[in-house]
Amino acid sequence: MPIFICGTGSYVPKKVLTNDELSLRVDTNDEWIRTRTGIRERRIASEEEASSDLCYHASLRALEAARLGPEAIDLILVATITPDTPFPATACYLQRCLNCRPIPALDINAACSGFPYGLHLARQCLLGDPHCRHILFVCGDKMSSVTDWQDRSSCVLLGDGAGAVIVGRSEDSEGNSPPEGLRLQISDILLGADGLGADQIIMPAGGSRRPASPQTVEGREHFFRMDGKRVFREAVQVMGECAEEILRRNGLSSGEIDYLIPHQANIRIINAVAQHLQIPQDRITITLDRYGNTSTSAIPIALDEAVRSERIARGKKLLTLAFGAGLTWGAALLQSE
Ligand code: UT7
Repeated sequence: MPIFICGTGSYVPKKVLTNDELSLRVDTNDEWIRTRTGIRERRIASEEEASSDLCYHASLRALEAARLGPEAIDLILVATITPDTPFPATACYLQRCLNCRPIPALDINAACSGFPYGLHLARQCLLGDPHCRHILFVCGDKMSSVTDWQDRSSCVLLGDGAGAVIVGRSEDSEGNSPPEGLRLQISDILLGADGLGADQIIMPAGGSRRPASPQTVEGREHFFRMDGKRVFREAVQVMGECAEEILRRNGLSSGEIDYLIPHQANIRIINAVAQHLQIPQDRITITLDRYGNTSTSAIPIALDEAVRSERIARGKKLLTLAFGAGLTWGAALLQSE
């Protein structure tokens, strides 16, 4: 049975932090950041806003696009690496904000690969449970809450935001079709992980291995840390291979992909992957110049912007490509209807 994305929504905080403003905080400059990463500015959430608040706004927009109310949702999935609290799940805070029925709500942690991972889970839940008709799947991260503002190699990269999708069947159990409007059929999803690379992108402390202590705070171990050069190389290679594999097993060539929606970490990574796949620039959705790397939410924000700009016509093939901490990676092949 076909499974669809039948509504998208996104949200970024109002506050803009430009490269020039950042250069007042750390030893960096606009020229370095733009040429080495492609980022011009990023959005930063207020102190009052947690990840669930970002997710809430994105969810309302996705529900509106799908012409559904919160009462129609049967499951909430949130992909985040910056949960409001280590427990309970951010999905439970979101359920409280949305005032839903007592439906299940859970978080997943696949870092920047959260979108294809969560989409896979959503699809499997719909296929396995006839009572589950609509899933709210939201990716949201307040990366500024784990950013080391003294580390110029990482603080220039990160930003805050959330992106949401409503995932549903072609027909519900009563035979009702989902609302009119652009739908994206989930054609295939490919996922992978390599825990040997777990230390390459990490927040070292605050979990059960290194609980918070004066030493961990002193050592700045509650912040995002990355072996940037190594991750860069792996990202280019793995995203390229992942794209080739999903295309191969669906009998497609890269020339048949109408829109590439890659994870937004670095424009040089995106260009290298696109060049490898021979996908021209005008078929790639870019948001990192305005939002930086928003972790889990980068792909669904870019997807929502592409849908809302009406760039995506019916009958087009979309390929989303992710890579992140874990190491994790994934691709989702979508077809617009
Ligand atoms: O979302 C998860 C996936 N994340 C990624 O895929 C990110 C992957 N990595 C990257 O995007 C890049 O490796 C970075 C953007 C993090 C770094 O770019 P790079 O071209 O690999 O720079 P680098 O680390 O090799 O540093 C080059 C130079 C160094 O100076 P020296 O040693 O050559 O004198 C750095 O100290 O640039 C310096 N540098 C900076 N200079 C100005 C590093 N950060 C900055 C900065 N401003 N912000």
